[in-house]
Amino acid sequence: MRYYKKPKINYIESLPEKNSFVSEGETVLVIYDLLLSEIEEFKAWIEQFEYIYGIMAGEALKSIKSFPEHFSTISNKISNISKKSLKIIAIGGGSVGDFSGFFASVYKRGVPLLHIPTTWLAAIDSAHGGKNALNSTIAKNQIGTFYFPEEIFICKNIISYLPDDQTLSGFGEIVKTAMLSGEPLWSKLPTQSKVSLDKIWSLIPEIVDIKYGIVSKDPFEDTSVRQVLNLGHTIGHILEKRFDLPHGEAVAQGLHFTLDWSIEKKYLVKADYDIMKSYLSSYFPCIKDKISEHMTKEMTLQLLLSDKKLDLNQKLNFVFLKGLGQPYVESVNVVDIISKLYHHSWIS
Ligand SMILES: NC(=O)c1ccc[n+]([C@@H]2O[C@H](COP(=O)([O-])OP(=O)(O)OC[C@H]3O[C@@H](n4cnc5c(N)ncnc54)[C@H](O)[C@@H]3O)[C@@H](O)[C@H]2O)c1
Ligand SMILES: [Zn+2]
Repeated sequence: MRYYKKPKINYIESLPEKNSFVSEGETVLVIYDLLLSEIEEFKAWIEQFEYIYGIMAGEALKSIKSFPEHFSTISNKISNISKKSLKIIAIGGGSVGDFSGFFASVYKRGVPLLHIPTTWLAAIDSAHGGKNALNSTIAKNQIGTFYFPEEIFICKNIISYLPDDQTLSGFGEIVKTAMLSGEPLWSKLPTQSKVSLDKIWSLIPEIVDIKYGIVSKDPFEDTSVRQVLNLGHTIGHILEKRFDLPHGEAVAQGLHFTLDWSIEKKYLVKADYDIMKSYLSSYFPCIKDKISEHMTKEMTLQLLLSDKKLDLNQKLNFVFLKGLGQPYVESVNVVDIISKLYHHSWIS
């Protein structure tokens, strides 16, 4: 029996006190991004824990090929801890969260999981929603489980160390959420050229609530309700994989294509198109001119065919926009996507 309970979410300035999430008799294994060891606050915090496992963040961590080795090393480390007293806490960005979530869900058929997301993207998106994934040798995110954490700590200080390109990546997901949900979030989006830490921080609870509002109606993707969260992602995933773009920046490019196709299909009126297109372009100029020469029809088809959301008829549910806050899901053939990408000069 699958069971969904919304995780407890804490918005805090500093890393959480150990006794706020470890009770007497419990032992935690902290799986952490090694890069965090350069941060003084983190160094002092991690010292309190006996069981720790540092890993390099990134897509290589999510490779199914390297998982057995990680699994053995971690299992050896924690072999003397009984399953009943063990908790896993993941501290890092989306790759660390995905890896740790998968590990927690399969280790002895599942042990409790907590997340401390350290990138905006993880704080807004990947730590929520209960999905984790490893990458197969062919495509991204093909092996995974639904496994909700019990608790999530979103800590401002630790996220503040993030470099600008990663901040922008998180902002791409924010723009997606605002296009998806419309007002009131849309009118609260920043307008200054550089997105400030405080501004993003102030928007996070509303964005996280919007995500849970959708996830709680369809926690295990049994219906199509959650599909709207994929706005911008069909093309975003292709660009992320092909050009190694940060996830949120790739999604922002996917939003450009979504807007262009939505107006062409007359789902979107010009006034709404202009408002969204001009806001999106001010932070994420469309880069189709730079990428089209490196993307052939054949290559794009291969990338789309490896999309796990594809059905047997080679169709997938594409999220269009009928207005601000009005996503519209429609089944489209991959061949139509290729032809639209070509027609709009995204590929050659
Ligand atoms: N499970 C989901 O629902 C879901 C949703 C969206 C994305 N994802 C996955 O998330 C991953 C992308 O997430 P991400 O962008 O957070 O990636 P990431 O974990 O690779 O982190 C990005 C970079 O930021 C560094 N970093 C992390 N925290 C930092 C900090 N506080 N200060 C400085 N540097 C820091 C990392 O070391 C890494 O170099 C992808 O693998 C994607 O597939 C999963
Ligand atoms: Zn995303």
